[in-house]
Amino acid sequence: MYYETAANDHGLPHDPFLSCVVPRPIGWVTTCDREGRANLAPFSFFNGVGTRPPQVMFSTVGAHADGGFKDSCANAETTGEFVINMATWALREEMNLTSAYMARGVDEAALAGLDMVPSRLVAPPRVKRSPIHLECRYSMSVRLPATDPEAAATVVFGAVVCVHIRDDVLTEGRVDVTKIRPISRLGYMEYAAIEQTFTMERPTVGESPGHHLNRELMKRT
Ligand SMILES: Cc1cc2nc3c(=O)[nH]c(=O)nc-3n(C[C@H](O)[C@H](O)[C@H](O)COP(=O)(O)O)c2cc1C
Repeated sequence: MYYETAANDHGLPHDPFLSCVVPRPIGWVTTCDREGRANLAPFSFFNGVGTRPPQVMFSTVGAHADGGFKDSCANAETTGEFVINMATWALREEMNLTSAYMARGVDEAALAGLDMVPSRLVAPPRVKRSPIHLECRYSMSVRLPATDPEAAATVVFGAVVCVHIRDDVLTEGRVDVTKIRPISRLGYMEYAAIEQTFTMERPTVGESPGHHLNRELMKRT
C-alpha cells in the first residue's frame, strides 16, 4: 500500500504511521514546576541524540487542557532541568498511569504509588524502582511546523549531566538489558519488552570484502 500524509488517505482503520517507527524507547520524564512541585509523564518520542556531552530529546505533541504546553515541556523550559527514568516491564502499569491527564501541579508519581528519590545535580526527583536515571540540563527547544495546530510538536533537548545505573543490572561491567527488560512503544496500544539481544561487530574499513563501499558508508554514519 501507499499513501501521502497530506491526505492521510491510507484507508486503514487506524493511522499506521506510529507502527512504521518502532520500537520507540520511552523517556519517563520527571520535571518540577516553578513552585518545586514534581511531575512525571512518559514520552515515546524520545531518544539519545549526542554523546559528548550525552544528549537526549523528547517531543511533546499537542497542548495541556489549559492551552499551554504540556507540563513536562513547560517545566523543563521554565526550570532548565529534567530527569529521564528508564521504563521497564516491572514498571509498565505505573508508567502508563502517569500518562493520565492531570491538573497542573498534581504529582502523577504519588497517584501511581511510586516512591521517588532525590537527584544529585538537578531538582526533579528520580523514580526509585527505575534502574537507570539520566539527570539532564535543558539546552533548547524546537517548535516544529504543524499542519494541525492542535498537534503541534515541541522537541525538548537536554544534556545529560550525570547517570545512575543500579549495580544489579550490570553484568561484567556492561549494562545488561535482559536484566532490565526495558519497554518500548509500538503502534496502536502495543508495546514491546526487550527480552534478548544479539551482537554484530562493525566492519573495519579496508579489511572486509567490499571495503570501498564500507568506506563510503562510514563517511556517512
Ligand atoms: C507510552 C506513552 C508514550 C507517550 N508518548 C508521548 C509523546 O511522545 N509525546 C506526547 O506529547 N505525549 C506522549 N504521551 C502522552 C503523555 O504522557 C500525556 O499527554 C501526559 O499527560 C503528559 O503529561 P504532562 O502534561 O504532565 O507533561 C505518551 C503516553 C504514553 C502512555
